[in-house]
Amino acid sequence: MTEPLAVPVRAERDYEVLIGRGVRARLTALLPEGVRVFLLHPPALSDAVDTVATTLSEAGHQVLRHCTPEGEAAKTALVATECWAALGRASFTRDDVIIGIGGGATTDLAGFVAASWLRGVQVIQVPTTLLGMVDAAVGGKTGINTGEGKNMVGAFHSPMAVLADLDWLSTLPAADLRAGMAEIVKCGFIADPAILTQIEADPEAAADPAGTVIGELIHRAVAVKADVVSTDLKEAGRREILNYGHTLAHAIEHQEQFRWRHGDAVSVGMVFAAELAARAGLLAPEVVTRHREILTRLALPTGYRGDVWPALREAMGRDKKARGSALRFVVLTEVGAPTRLDDPDPVWLQDAYAAITEERR
Ligand SMILES: NC(=O)c1ccc[n+]([C@@H]2O[C@H](COP(=O)([O-])OP(=O)(O)OC[C@H]3O[C@@H](n4cnc5c(N)ncnc54)[C@H](O)[C@@H]3O)[C@@H](O)[C@H]2O)c1
Ligand SMILES: [Zn+2]
Repeated sequence: MTEPLAVPVRAERDYEVLIGRGVRARLTALLPEGVRVFLLHPPALSDAVDTVATTLSEAGHQVLRHCTPEGEAAKTALVATECWAALGRASFTRDDVIIGIGGGATTDLAGFVAASWLRGVQVIQVPTTLLGMVDAAVGGKTGINTGEGKNMVGAFHSPMAVLADLDWLSTLPAADLRAGMAEIVKCGFIADPAILTQIEADPEAAADPAGTVIGELIHRAVAVKADVVSTDLKEAGRREILNYGHTLAHAIEHQEQFRWRHGDAVSVGMVFAAELAARAGLLAPEVVTRHREILTRLALPTGYRGDVWPALREAMGRDKKARGSALRFVVLTEVGAPTRLDDPDPVWLQDAYAAITEERR
């Protein structure tokens, strides 16, 4: 293991995100001596988690394993209840530690179980997807879904540490890798232009899970998120910039009944936000073009079907981030300079939508 990159996050209790190859080996050093461990993971990672569990046992920790249902099916009240039952049977105490190994679905569930068990026990997050590393596992938001919507029940609960081991990415399906890149590009546009130039220099190298660039990009993206959440722990204001591209993205995800990957929807949503900003006279056309070019080079979608505007408009109004019925967008005035656009002119919205549907003709 080469020396990992570390990003400090300030929260109720400060913690670090460690990024590097082999950083999962740091788990044993983080755990207090003799504590028990409740290890949550999806079925897809069972074999790899065997090795982690063995290492923890050898270090003197009693390991309780809980294999969750695959993907989003892990984020239900029923699965949380099963976890609480397992913790209860084992008399899991406040000194013991929960570990979530998996994508954002797993780390969201693990964080929520940790936040709720005995009113809060420690959790270490070990994200294994690109989205998990740059977004879901960082920032302390945890939660599960209800029949009425995604992430409707949850808590803010900061982890003890986040270990982003790049070696996990080698088994990640290409579509998940690509979708994760959208959130990295987002961080580039809202705060760190170096991310964009690095990807533009060689997009293939940037997205190579075995390459040398991806670790640096993850580092930069995590630093952006860490900086924002450190100054706005509970989503009072500044954290909103992380929602760049997400207003339309959430509507698309809803329209597609969550069969689209989140990152793909965010990709389209960022192009829409850029088109909207241009129409509002806030953003230069070259920056809109730059959105399309960089996302296309990463094989991310930049357009959407043209026949569902009323449904999308309605869904955006219902978004839990909307205030009343007025729409709120995060837009750019230039790269690295986000601002808010409240209640934009309906004509701009229509035109921006037309601009992103044209490419589907
Ligand atoms: N808490 C937050 O701030 C936050 C932020 C963004 C997203 N999220 C949540 O994250 C979730 C999406 O996360 P995701 O995209 O990581 O999806 P996911 O957790 O469903 O993982 C995607 C799939 O990849 C599999 N997988 C995970 N790691 C793998 C690996 N290394 N190799 C092979 N397969 C692997 C998983 O088992 C799953 O089937 C959503 O529930 C979303 O709400 C939370
Ligand atoms: Zn997102």
